Amino acid sequence: MNELARELNEVLDRTVVSSFLSPLGRRMYFPKGIVAQSAEAGEKAKNYNATVGLATKNGEPIHLSDIYNRFEKDVFRPRDIFNYAPGGGDKALRALWKEEMIRKNPTLKGKSFSSPLVTSGLTHAISMAAQLFVSNGDEVVCPDLFWDNYDLIFSELTDARMIPFTFFKDGGFNTEALRSALLSAKGDAVRLILNFPNNPTGYTPSHEEVLSIVAMLKEVAKEKKILIIVDDAYFGLFYEKETEKESLFAYLCDLDENIFAIKGDAATKEEMAWGFRVGFITYGGKGLDEAAYQALTNKTLGMIRCTVSNCDRPGQSLLLDAMKNGKHYAEDKEKLFKEMNLRYDILKKELENYKDSSLLKPYPFNSGYFMAFDTLSNSAEELRCYLLDKYGVGAVSIFDKTFRLAYCSVEPEKIKDLVALVYKAAGELWS
Ligand SMILES: Cc1ncc(COP(=O)(O)O)c(C=O)c1O
Repeated sequence: MNELARELNEVLDRTVVSSFLSPLGRRMYFPKGIVAQSAEAGEKAKNYNATVGLATKNGEPIHLSDIYNRFEKDVFRPRDIFNYAPGGGDKALRALWKEEMIRKNPTLKGKSFSSPLVTSGLTHAISMAAQLFVSNGDEVVCPDLFWDNYDLIFSELTDARMIPFTFFKDGGFNTEALRSALLSAKGDAVRLILNFPNNPTGYTPSHEEVLSIVAMLKEVAKEKKILIIVDDAYFGLFYEKETEKESLFAYLCDLDENIFAIKGDAATKEEMAWGFRVGFITYGGKGLDEAAYQALTNKTLGMIRCTVSNCDRPGQSLLLDAMKNGKHYAEDKEKLFKEMNLRYDILKKELENYKDSSLLKPYPFNSGYFMAFDTLSNSAEELRCYLLDKYGVGAVSIFDKTFRLAYCSVEPEKIKDLVALVYKAAGELWS
């Protein structure tokens, strides 16, 4: 094993992280190679910097003027668009994202957690967390209604076994089922992924429910070390008063020495920049000190280096500028929230008209972009194909038993018709 990796492991072996490092995670380190040497030269090479493979003239990247001319010159220099971003992301963006994280999650105030690292979208953050901390034969607890990409990431990429628990009980979050799943996992360490607002159901627990989840995790942590990946893809889109408005990470990052929390979030949905591919990964744990956060950062930089090498530069520059200087930033985000809230209200009301249906049962939903139906033993895939072929309506079937509507992409005045067609098609197929 490389000496640098060994040194990082020595630091992490004093913490809860050591129970979770995969063999790859143990081997990983950020080499003192081209990227590290060029970052050092960037600070000290006052005469010539001949480190990195990037063509420059007069200190700026040589570039296609057809691209650069699309930007305002007094806002973005060529280096803001064409250069590589610093390893781990633009420092100013990382600092601002952290500041915003605390503003949006006041419970984080005064707590210690790592500086967010920029990833190539949220999938990349989850995928790196999986590769660093999950491996062959490990068990990953997750709700029985989950984003289908988790299956590919955990079951295939890391060869782990997903342990689903029943998400809902009596119209709310099933804390007891989660507890049993965690306790049933083999060994003295268990891995968990939770995502609120949830994809596919659009559910976020209430504040009361979150408090009981947190208390339960603290109890379980007496028996087992817990790694929890908190997927905050749809953070902020909470439409009901009682719904929890903070990330679970805010409650878990200092909860117990036996709990290691990883927050994945992104500009993707939060900043309406789906195609930018700018995400973040942040670490937190009660027993983790600055040296441990540095070691985790170093291993993550190594993962970035050997997978995508560097994350999207123009996306980071544009995002930073909008967050820092944007004239319409807050207003545009508020507009999106109101639009989604309006669609949510219309859909909720419309579904009331079908509450006695024995064909489709909506799962509880209160947040995010989606709602989903339990197809009650009928084939969700059959409904999807029928709707598409006969009525030209596209929706998603998941594992053939869940039917998901992304109402975020349907105009408010069309929602009534969409719901009518879904129930009509289900009636034509199954009654
Ligand atoms: C629950 C959940 N997590 C993560 C992601 C991935 O986001 P990104 O596009 O930033 O990779 C998505 C995207 O659909 C999602 O629904």
